[in-house]
Amino acid sequence: MSITHVVALGGSLLRPEEAAARSMWMGQLRQLMVHLEGNGRRIGLVVGGGLPAREGISLVKETITDREKLDEIGIAGTRLNATVLQQLLLDIGCDVAQRIPQTVEEARLLLEQHHIVVMGGTVPGHTTDTVAVKLAATVHARHCIIATNVSHVYTNDPRHHDDAEALTEMTLEELGGIVGVGTPLEPGASTVVDPVAVEVAMGAGLDLAVLDGRDIRRLDDALEGKLFEGTIIKA
Ligand code: UTP
Repeated sequence: MSITHVVALGGSLLRPEEAAARSMWMGQLRQLMVHLEGNGRRIGLVVGGGLPAREGISLVKETITDREKLDEIGIAGTRLNATVLQQLLLDIGCDVAQRIPQTVEEARLLLEQHHIVVMGGTVPGHTTDTVAVKLAATVHARHCIIATNVSHVYTNDPRHHDDAEALTEMTLEELGGIVGVGTPLEPGASTVVDPVAVEVAMGAGLDLAVLDGRDIRRLDDALEGKLFEGTIIKA
């Protein structure tokens, strides 16, 4: 049976400030996917909404108070970004599902037919981290990789705490303490890992890996089961 990987790709990764960095990152991601597909791997990429999700939500946040409606706008942003990456990979002839699945079960079925499936969000109430963790548990991936724009999980938010320390290994329980399991995020709000995703990983007994997805080498190392620069979070 082939190995299946699941990666949550933060929406911010698609939009580095400079266009040169953007095309380099997209080129490296393409190379990595071609390489993995060539080795017979299956990959589920779950893409975050980043800027379009936040912008869409901010347009109506003063007017719409229903959380679910704001989440639906966020989900549309994630699917836009998923479509961008899907087309980027189809363009170089990768075996990518033509459909952006709307549920984890649909993604599982598509992964039986294609090497690569790209998707965004599913339903209101969580972020794409949770979708990725659910998919990883469903397809029995070794772990769920959360590729974001910070190098590690820190003891505290490094943007506000100078003494925040980077962690290389920790437990889901410890991560839950940092992100606040039991308190779902506001639509469009963000923590290093969505607390709902941590809770789902606990229930599934699934390890997580958090790393800086701007450096494709780190993602490659984690996918290959090598020592990677980032944080491994044990179930
Ligand atoms: P993201 O997954 O993009 O959240 O979902 P994020 O933590 O901001 O990730 P980055 O910044 O892209 O890395 C954006 C918003 O879309 C809604 C939520 O409102 C979330 O905050 N959403 C997303 C859902 O309601 N359900 C989903 O399955 C996914």
